[in-house]
Amino acid sequence: NIDQLKNRDTKDKLDEIKTAFTYGEVVGIPTETVYGLAGDARNSEAIQKIFSAKGRPGDNPLIVHIHSVEQLDDFTELRDPKVQTLMTHFWPGPISFILPLKGSMLAGNTVAELNSVAVRMPSHPVGHAILEHVGFPLAAPSANLSGKPSPTAYRHVIDDLNGKVYGVVASEPATFGLESTVLDCTQYPYRIARPGSITKEALESVLEETVNRHETGAEKPISPGMKYKHYAPRQPLSVIEGGLRNNTHIDTDGDEKIGVIAPENCREYVPEGAYFISLCSSEDSHREAARNLYAALRRMDKSDVDVIYIHGFSKNAETEALMNRIYKAAGDEVIKDDHI
Ligand code: TXA
Ligand code: MG
Repeated sequence: NIDQLKNRDTKDKLDEIKTAFTYGEVVGIPTETVYGLAGDARNSEAIQKIFSAKGRPGDNPLIVHIHSVEQLDDFTELRDPKVQTLMTHFWPGPISFILPLKGSMLAGNTVAELNSVAVRMPSHPVGHAILEHVGFPLAAPSANLSGKPSPTAYRHVIDDLNGKVYGVVASEPATFGLESTVLDCTQYPYRIARPGSITKEALESVLEETVNRHETGAEKPISPGMKYKHYAPRQPLSVIEGGLRNNTHIDTDGDEKIGVIAPENCREYVPEGAYFISLCSSEDSHREAARNLYAALRRMDKSDVDVIYIHGFSKNAETEALMNRIYKAAGDEVIKDDHI
């Protein structure tokens, strides 16, 4: 049934999607970051379906998606003009804001019983049209099985959730390919709970004040979702710090079949016989790498390789979110330059 929404007229499709949500069904929808698994944020049974379909721990709250800022009056306290400045500047787009929760409109399980809520207005034309047509807020985590790489193409949603959800809206692959930046605005200075393509530097230049960086390593994760294993293929994955070009570490002596994910212009450094997936054209094409990362991890997952190596990009503001996801996918398994 998951393909049933594919070849219909837009109006009919939007009507069917709205009806499905009204009846508490959950549907995969496209956004510019990754595909989301959406349901009526006010309906606890719909939200329970989302958690069950993904196998997601119930203490990990969902992001609530809207099409207009007026909707926020129904369920958040939005008194801070600086948050409104950020919303005006970056919405619709790939950033979520954590705000104080207000009232009882949202189902408790949408926000994992917290007193805050993450909200986002996507820019994807189809995702936005769905939110507008539906009218009520839609809770939507990424539409993958919990722990697997997020879906950047509708086929990924089918691979993970076929038979578990009402349907998926088939659209183009996501343009950004990494989940939204999550900015916690319930504390001051605001703090990045999850890095994304809207960087700390971009936020600071609009705010004209400091934004705190997300916590890494052993520190307590601020975003409940950050504490779980994430984005991971089934095989062990190692990051080659400093990039493939400088690396001689990949051990080719054993019987293990090796997979390598790296920029196209590093192909010559891939060991002979390894299964190579090109992530982007060059080491500087980090946006392209972000767009292709999850599809590459999923292809490796499906392949017969035993171990995976992935190119580590040079660290700067622009690659922070990309490297954050790569490290998480690797479970922080890193090959340092000094091992070479
Ligand atoms: O790009 C995205 O954000 C995608 C698309 C579908 O919008 N959604 C997404 O949702 O990535 P999800 O559920 O996979 O990630 C939501 C993240 C989790 O790390 C969660 O813990 C955090 O946001 N989060 C949500 N509500 C929160 C809250 N009230 N306080 C702290 N963290 C929160
Ligand atoms: Mg997710």
